[in-house]
Amino acid sequence: MPLIAPSILSADFARLADQVRAAEAAGADWIHVDVMDGRFVPNITMGFVVVEALRPVTRLPLDVHLMIVEPERYVERFVAAGADVVTVHVEATAHVHRTLQLIRSAGARAGLAVNPATPLDWFEDVLGELDLALLMSVNPGFGGQRFIPRSLERLERLAALRDRVNPEARIEVDGGVGPGNAAELVRRGADVLVAGSAVFGGDGTVAENLSALRDAAQ
Ligand code: DX5
Ligand code: ZN
Repeated sequence: MPLIAPSILSADFARLADQVRAAEAAGADWIHVDVMDGRFVPNITMGFVVVEALRPVTRLPLDVHLMIVEPERYVERFVAAGADVVTVHVEATAHVHRTLQLIRSAGARAGLAVNPATPLDWFEDVLGELDLALLMSVNPGFGGQRFIPRSLERLERLAALRDRVNPEARIEVDGGVGPGNAAELVRRGADVLVAGSAVFGGDGTVAENLSALRDAAQ
C-alpha cells in the first residue's frame, strides 16, 4: 500500500487548516508542502510560517518539498518550523551529500528530488544518505499539470537502483498523479504518491477524492 501525500498547493488557502484536517480525517499519510522561491521555479508559494502554522493542526508528518535555490541555507529553519521530511532538488544545491547530511543532523528525514530531464545517475552515490528519492513527473512550479509519460520508465529504473543500493529508501512520485495512473505507479515502484489537484481540486470532497485515489492505487 503506498503512502498518500496530498499537496496543499491545490488547497483553499483561506481554509488551510480545515483542508489539512479533512485530509487527515480521510486517511492521508503525509501532508506535502511545496515551497517555491520564484527563482528555482517560476512561482512563489509559502515558507516557514505556513509550516509553523500547520504543525499544531495535524499529527501527520509534514513532507516539505523545497523548490528553492541553495536550500542548504534554510534547511534548519524548516526543521525547526516542524518539517519531518525535507526534500531538496539536486539541481539547486552544489554539495548534495553535505546538504543531505545537514537535513539529517537537523533531525528530519532527508529527501532528494530530480526534475524530469535530470539523469538518475545522481542517485547512485547518494542513495545511502537519503530516506526519500523524489521523482518529478512534471516540471516543478505548478499544480494541475499533465503527467509526463516517460516518468514511468524512469520510475522503474529508479526503483531498481533503490533496491540495489538502499532498499530502505522510499520513492515518491510528484506531479500529475491521480486515480488514472496510481496503480501503474505503484506497480513500477512508487511508495509515496503526491497528489494536489486530484485531492483538493477534484470533483468531490477531499474525503471522496482521497478515497478514490486510495482505491485506484491498490
Ligand atoms: C509541483 C509540485 C507538486 C504539485 C503537484 O511543482 O511539486 O507537489 O502540487 O500537483 P498535482 O498533483 O496537481 O500535479
Ligand atoms: Zn511537490
